[in-house]
Amino acid sequence: MAHRTLADKVPAAPARRGPCSWVPMTAMMSVMTLSTAFTKLFGVRHPVALAPMGGSAGGALAAAVSQGGGLGLLGATKGDPEWLAREVPVVRQGTDRPWGIGLWTWAIDVAAVERALECQPRAVLLSFGDPSPFTERIRRAGATLILQVTDMTEARQAVDLGADVIVAQGTESGGHGARHGRSTLPFVPAVVDLAAPTPVLAAGGIADGRGLAAALALGAEGALIGTRFQATAEALVDPSITTAIVEGRGQDTERNRVLDIARGASWPSRYTARTLGHRYLDRWRGREAELAADRQAQRDYQDDVARGEVPPLPVWAGEAVDLITDLPPAADLVTALAAQAEDALTRVTRAGKG
Ligand SMILES: Cc1cc2nc3c(=O)[nH]c(=O)nc-3n(C[C@H](O)[C@H](O)[C@H](O)COP(=O)(O)O)c2cc1C
Repeated sequence: MAHRTLADKVPAAPARRGPCSWVPMTAMMSVMTLSTAFTKLFGVRHPVALAPMGGSAGGALAAAVSQGGGLGLLGATKGDPEWLAREVPVVRQGTDRPWGIGLWTWAIDVAAVERALECQPRAVLLSFGDPSPFTERIRRAGATLILQVTDMTEARQAVDLGADVIVAQGTESGGHGARHGRSTLPFVPAVVDLAAPTPVLAAGGIADGRGLAAALALGAEGALIGTRFQATAEALVDPSITTAIVEGRGQDTERNRVLDIARGASWPSRYTARTLGHRYLDRWRGREAELAADRQAQRDYQDDVARGEVPPLPVWAGEAVDLITDLPPAADLVTALAAQAEDALTRVTRAGKG
């Protein structure tokens, strides 16, 4: 990816200097009152959940989000015991407020769910795959069951399985999601209508309070946010990834399977990932089957990683990456998101009366 400066990314108009700059500081300091079914369910202050980003949503980030008044979710992927043993004490030490654990449904077994439940999370979030073998066990343990869905079939199943909260993930989102995804704007209200009265969180393309306000206007009870939280002080990411996120543009993101195949990841083909541009993506776009059969190409990828010629991991980023221009502490970000959302909703209400 060509090096870009913030000037390339951020329009000159003062109202768009950065994700927080369009809200007066005084508004950010005031007490926010965006009370929803989600905030009531968890007893949290703001309708914001941290996406359980594999690897990057560790204990420090989850704790910071919960301390900031949102719901922090650990990105525990397959429920690796060593990862949980390292990160769960960090979240426990960092907050006495509710937090949870996210797992990849396609990659786990009941034992992984048991390991997660032993950590006594307030919530377990399952994404990507058939959650039915695990939901009853989670409910029996008394944890709140959150299911992330990427299409209407998954949404229907989540309702039938009695999810306490459903996350409707639009295709703008960073990281993995449906190969044939739906856009957040029409998908969220469709899930809200299907799932009522189950609370729905919107996910995908939300990186500031205007997006959070839009999610609430669509009937969601809050937002689950990933990419924005990668550029925070507590995220477990390499500085090169933070830089790529801060400099990246939505138009540089692309949903693809190429990078999963090249790095030998065993994601099901129905879930692709939105990433920033990458040399291997340009080389193999549209030739996924050929790449999958080409062992030498996969070895070349590993060699290029070893030589430092390609980054160890793709940069997973959603379309809202344009809005990310700074690296705040995550707790401050949660407060700012809520303040910006309240400000946006107030502006809309005033405009309606004018
Ligand atoms: C770096 C990254 C890693 C992610 N890893 C996971 C994961 O391990 N499990 C999961 O359920 N979702 C994961 N997601 C998807 C999020 O749950 C969420 O749907 C997405 O971040 C929302 O879109 P946004 O990035 O535009 O906020 C990941 C997203 C990103 C950006």
